[in-house]
Amino acid sequence: MSGVISKEGMAPPSYDDGVVRAFALASVLWGVVGMLVGVVIAAQLAWPELNFGIPWLSYGRLRPLHTNAVIFAFGGCALMATAFHVVQRTCHTRLFAPKLAWFTFWGWQAVIVLAAVTLPLGITSGKEYAELEWPVDILITLVWVSYAIVFFGSVGIRKVRHIYVANWFFGAFIIAVALLHLVNSAEIPVSLTKSYSAYAGVQDAMVQWWYGHNAVGFFLTAGFLGMMYYYIPKQANRPVYSYRLSIVHFWALIFTYMWAGPHHLHYTALPDWAQSVGMLFSLVLLAPSWGGMINGVMTLSGAWHKLRDDPILKFLIVALSFYGMSTFEGPMMSIKTVNALSHYTDWTIGHVHSGALGWVGLISMGALYHLIPRMWGRTAMYSTRAIELHFWIATVGIVLYIAAMWIAGVMQGLMWRAVNPDGTLVYTFVESVKATYPFYVVRLLGGLLYLSGMCLMAWNVVMTVRVGSARPQPIPSQNNLPTGAMAAA
Ligand code: HEM
Ligand code: HEM
Repeated sequence: MSGVISKEGMAPPSYDDGVVRAFALASVLWGVVGMLVGVVIAAQLAWPELNFGIPWLSYGRLRPLHTNAVIFAFGGCALMATAFHVVQRTCHTRLFAPKLAWFTFWGWQAVIVLAAVTLPLGITSGKEYAELEWPVDILITLVWVSYAIVFFGSVGIRKVRHIYVANWFFGAFIIAVALLHLVNSAEIPVSLTKSYSAYAGVQDAMVQWWYGHNAVGFFLTAGFLGMMYYYIPKQANRPVYSYRLSIVHFWALIFTYMWAGPHHLHYTALPDWAQSVGMLFSLVLLAPSWGGMINGVMTLSGAWHKLRDDPILKFLIVALSFYGMSTFEGPMMSIKTVNALSHYTDWTIGHVHSGALGWVGLISMGALYHLIPRMWGRTAMYSTRAIELHFWIATVGIVLYIAAMWIAGVMQGLMWRAVNPDGTLVYTFVESVKATYPFYVVRLLGGLLYLSGMCLMAWNVVMTVRVGSARPQPIPSQNNLPTGAMAAA
């Protein structure tokens, strides 16, 4: 792997960072909004009257608003900010087609606003994580193609031979999401606000969960692994533990994810062999997932002491621990007999949020804390103590959330399957709902803590931007390849 850094590839005088700044701020804003909606629906599950009888505040409409806001608005903007930041630094080039990058920004904000309007109105395709109706789907396609052109164009005009591994992950995320969106959103419009899926019956379910699982694999994982491979070496100022492992990690992960979707359809009309394929590939997925986690965590070897005083590193490394946890739990839940207990219960919700709050949330926050002061020419965030506080509030919030959901989920599963000697059910469904109530309150508390952390971050970002704008100063290290890229040399 020689030629990692070439002399002719010394950094250009400046980068196209306006669009990175815009996406970073948007991510923080949508994070607050999306998590607030999460807290509202968590409260509604404990106290259903909180919809006040207003249809567009009903749980069924706000839930997809929450998932779309946190995944595509908060997560999506963080991914776009970091992809545009990383590709310029690691390829020693400015963005290819910067105007198109701005179209990506405004187009994506338009998609988010359209989602925020249409979902509460009840306009939905009914497919989870792909609820937006066909006119919005077309806009998403245009924005995504622009994103791809800017990203791959920038890789294409790079001034160094090497393509750093973070870009491989961002690239796979962009290509896979394009493919998933195009195939799963094939639909027949019947009016401006209603369409029907092009597929029917079990094929529709299979396409949907091929999409759904790979949305997890590529939107909620591959892109964030791209972040991990750039920001952990940068923040720790250490080379990535094993460059070779990162390449094996990449190919193994993207190959395996594509086949795991059927684990969402255990015990359904899907042929049994297809369910078994899904289970098998989910079990295999443990290996590349943990390979990636170990690679990230071991990047700190020899520098563990940095974890003590650097709260940004805490965000990044604890994110990886949650990644390891949810990618251990997922394969276990994909085993048919385990899924017979966990499916339809709050255990799934616990699993989702250990990945979503623990992995996606913390890694994005860590990356944004690293990136934002540099983007505004500050040497650090306005308040490091606020970052430390944010870290602890968020971590306690996650633990409360997921522990409550695990207990509730296993309890529900056991109550639903308990039978008397004469074959009748021991518990009615309503009894299981009543037993879940205290856990919904604890989950709400965890969610409130996590949201307060996000609000603290928003305040810290505003202060960093306002105070920092007075004295812009370049940070020397930002023009170099991440130290990780040198590990293989
Ligand atoms: C303050 C933080 C959050 C709270 C209080 C919260 C709360 C909730 C609630 C109450 C549900 C519905 C659960 C159910 O139907 O039983 C939900 C679903 C979901 N949330 Fe969150 N959430 C939060 C943050 C996040 C974040 C940051 C993400 C992603 C990055 C996320 C992703 C999801 C997903 C994917 C679902 C759907 C799960 C499924 O269908 O199995 N959430 N959330
Ligand atoms: C090796 C990795 C993983 C495997 C094998 C896996 C497996 C599973 C399984 C078996 C389910 C339950 C399906 C059901 O009973 O309906 C599930 C649900 C889910 N997982 Fe994972 N998981 C993994 C990692 C993750 C990560 C890292 C995240 C988040 C960042 C995540 C997000 C989700 C979501 C959102 C759902 C709920 C989907 C829905 O029903 O709406 N998973 N996963």
